Amino acid sequence: MAEKAKIAVFISGTGTNMAALLYASRLESSPFEIVLIASNIASADGLALAELEGIPTFVHSHKGHSREDHDTAMEAAAKQAGTEFIVLAGYMRVLSDAFVERWDGRILNIHPSLLPKYKGLDPHARAIEAGDSHAGASVHLVTPELDAGEVLAQAKVAIAPDDTAETLQARVKLAEHQLYPRAVADYVARGNDPDCLFGQLRSLALALPETHERESHGSPGFRVGSEKSGKFFAYFSDRHHGSEHIALLVKTSGMDELLNLVEAQPDIYYKPAFYGASGWVGVILNRPNIDWDHIEEWLGRSWRAVAPARLTKLLDAADMF
Ligand code: GRF
Repeated sequence: MAEKAKIAVFISGTGTNMAALLYASRLESSPFEIVLIASNIASADGLALAELEGIPTFVHSHKGHSREDHDTAMEAAAKQAGTEFIVLAGYMRVLSDAFVERWDGRILNIHPSLLPKYKGLDPHARAIEAGDSHAGASVHLVTPELDAGEVLAQAKVAIAPDDTAETLQARVKLAEHQLYPRAVADYVARGNDPDCLFGQLRSLALALPETHERESHGSPGFRVGSEKSGKFFAYFSDRHHGSEHIALLVKTSGMDELLNLVEAQPDIYYKPAFYGASGWVGVILNRPNIDWDHIEEWLGRSWRAVAPARLTKLLDAADMF
């Protein structure tokens, strides 16, 4: 079984979603484990459960601290615990933009409405008030704008004619407890999913000038130049030739650089079969905390190494400004 993704759950209250995540993480097949439960409220009920279940906890009151300082303290505890993803479960603090940006793509939240409807407060009452037939819950990525990040999963809940905000909230929570653990599991598993990784890579590779996709020896690759005489600047390798890596293969300046990279950072680079012999390095994609800017840099560099002069000249000229 692959290593489990390490998540920290941030709570402020009862923590029933936290409990659902905690017990889901106890299933052998769970792709995530909880390494920390952190809260801004010392009396949050969820903390007692976390302690009972032997999960490390961290409390830091937000009172008397700036938003940035409070976030930084929470972040330090999360990092110390080895956190890869932060999962908000009834965490009643708006996070600072800087913090959200540092964890871009790695903070999830659950909101009790069918987003984009009813962002912010009182979503249940607002859904009843509007006469909606259904309410529900949404799991989304956290971005600086409140409740506006990409929606990852949703569950619908019918509204009864005599529902109050409270009765509806109770049923929506039942749905939340099913939804959240699954959405988190699917999301953290994406990092090992070749289709997702390839999709991300393809969009970066094809964003470079005059590129197209072409298969080579059974693996997808990307070329620059015309369909007829273009040259490969990148390949996607999905556990080829007995390797456990899903990787991007790109051109280095030669064997010296390749071997140096592999020796200095063996968790990022490896020497791939066949291609390695001609100076192509494998950049591992199925690893935690992958930095896509770094992948983009490698693609750009490899593109430049093989692109025709008429294209690189244009870019060189643009770089001078
Ligand atoms: C949930 O309704 C969740 O959607 C919202 O806050 C509530 C937290 O409830 N973000 P609990 O603490 O998990 O019981």
